[in-house]
Amino acid sequence: MAQNGFKVAVVGATGAVGNLMIKVLEQRAFPVGSLKLLASARSVGKTLAFRGVEIPVEELTEDSFNDIRLALFSAGGSISKKFAPAAARAGAVVIDNSNAFRMDPAVPLVVPEVNPEAALSHSGIIANPNCSTIQMVVALKPLYDAAGIRRVVVTTFQAVSGTGKRAIEELQNQVADIMQGREAVHRIYPHQIAFNCLPHIGPFLDNGFSEEEMKMVHETRKIFEDSRIRVCATTVRVPVIYGHSESVNLETEKPLSPEDARMLLKNAPGVRVVDDPANAGYPMPLDAAGGDLTLVGRIRTDPSVENGLAMWVVADNIRKGAATNAVQIAEILLQHGRL
Ligand code: A2P
Repeated sequence: MAQNGFKVAVVGATGAVGNLMIKVLEQRAFPVGSLKLLASARSVGKTLAFRGVEIPVEELTEDSFNDIRLALFSAGGSISKKFAPAAARAGAVVIDNSNAFRMDPAVPLVVPEVNPEAALSHSGIIANPNCSTIQMVVALKPLYDAAGIRRVVVTTFQAVSGTGKRAIEELQNQVADIMQGREAVHRIYPHQIAFNCLPHIGPFLDNGFSEEEMKMVHETRKIFEDSRIRVCATTVRVPVIYGHSESVNLETEKPLSPEDARMLLKNAPGVRVVDDPANAGYPMPLDAAGGDLTLVGRIRTDPSVENGLAMWVVADNIRKGAATNAVQIAEILLQHGRL
């Protein structure tokens, strides 16, 4: 540890998540001694603010990690595959937000409210789960512990910020163009996203599901260390900028009333219950955006199956679903003297 904190690097610092990682490190007062901001050669010459100081963005190379203790990666899977092992070899602990290592049995996949202890078994790289998985498992955890979970059917309503900065711009430009009577142009998504919903996140696989849908299946099982949980997901991109919403139906092993589920969720870390439908009180992306809590509401019995519960789960996809979760993992290492 440097005198006043750790040497930290953020890879993909100019991106939607990377930029937020810098803010979350600052907001949570993580002990950063020095901060190195890394992106592509295109970003050299830019600066980004950390604690009121402008820091120049540097080009990512294999030599970027000498002396770095903690490296937060969010520049896409191919960059992680290429550079995360080099960073770990140089002695850094990597917390990787990409899909590159999530299902690697040697790499822990961690949501601090669910399986914090897994972070301590790393060999240089820790994976941050998919944004949709993170908020779902935060809400499932207290119910899983109390009643067991056999099956989950989930449909997501995912914000464009999950695709990155250029997708946010695409939605904003399409809305502006349409309102001005101009044609909407799409480059990032296969169709217009403004005023539309696309049940298509990531490539489609031979089984008919999209890659995003299968991430929710595999990652949920890995995080709970329970290969028996059956998950069926439909993931949908919607014209929201920040905040993913999820309709979650679950079948528990033991019966669990909505009242008990509500009480368990009220006492669960990282969760806020917003469940007052009579007064139009339920979680919404506009309320979750900018915060770190997973909001849960519309908790009710699903009468179509035995031991069925239905609920609505919303969180800020780039904070709890990405940047905050990564910094919380670093905090676990810090608390255990493992940085
Ligand atoms: P850059 O801005 O220089 O292209 P987002 O997910 O919001 O699109 O952000 C992606 C992040 O990944 C950006 O910070 C981007 O940097 C970074 N990135 C993309 N390609 C590379 C690369 N070849 N080397 C380093 N960083 C990269």
